[in-house]
Amino acid sequence: MRVLLVGATGLLGTQIKRILEPQHEVITASRKGSDVSVDLSDKASIVAMFDKVGKVGAVVCVGGAAKFAPLDSLSDGDYAFSLANKLMGQVNLVRCAIGHVDEGGSVTLTSGVLAQQPMVGSAAVSIVNAGVEGFARVAALELQGKMRVNVVSPGWVAETLESMGKDPSQGIPAAEVAKVYRRTIDETITGQTLLAAKT
Ligand SMILES: NC(=O)c1ccc[n+]([C@@H]2O[C@H](COP(=O)([O-])OP(=O)(O)OC[C@H]3O[C@@H](n4cnc5c(N)ncnc54)[C@H](OP(=O)(O)O)[C@@H]3O)[C@@H](O)[C@H]2O)c1
Repeated sequence: MRVLLVGATGLLGTQIKRILEPQHEVITASRKGSDVSVDLSDKASIVAMFDKVGKVGAVVCVGGAAKFAPLDSLSDGDYAFSLANKLMGQVNLVRCAIGHVDEGGSVTLTSGVLAQQPMVGSAAVSIVNAGVEGFARVAALELQGKMRVNVVSPGWVAETLESMGKDPSQGIPAAEVAKVYRRTIDETITGQTLLAAKT
């Protein structure tokens, strides 16, 4: 199957690419350094990506950003950036994927633990992650029989904790998170948010 992987050069994207490549043709996308260039915050660039790539069996998105900062320092611009990037970027990815994904194929989006378990500084990120999950539920409902839509919600990833100087044993390795993304392609599920967290 042809799989379009957006955010392929990042921590999770690298592991998802590695785990999918034995069975699938993975087409990588990000702003820099991938097969196809895309900026999720720019809808025209998403349209251009699908025009270039053509039909795929699945789309996986681990790209997009949101601003992490305490409530009293988040600016109007920080909220606007976060909504336009990781939230509307992924919403627009689903909208633009219609007609470019084979019947019964899937789009997998990414939220994160901060949707359900907030912490100081996560206001914008928590809005975005919860919004992605809410959107995916209704998109799956409306696209039933045409295209499956699911979300993976990673917990803190071990390698990210390590890069922050924290204890990596409290997180889940990126390679384990990648296995959860693979399930959204292999299984016929839709409208699900799959947690990928340390057990
Ligand atoms: N790591 C964690 O602990 C963790 C926990 C929970 C949730 N998550 C979520 O998982 C996702 C991936 O995390 P990660 O740690 O793998 O991130 P990462 O290492 O920073 O990688 C992000 C990837 O997305 C691409 N990207 C960023 N902005 C983009 C844009 N506007 N348009 C297109 N591509 C863009 C980057 O490449 P370019 O910069 O070249 O575009 C890169 O390939 C994110 O949504 C993150 O919030 C991560």
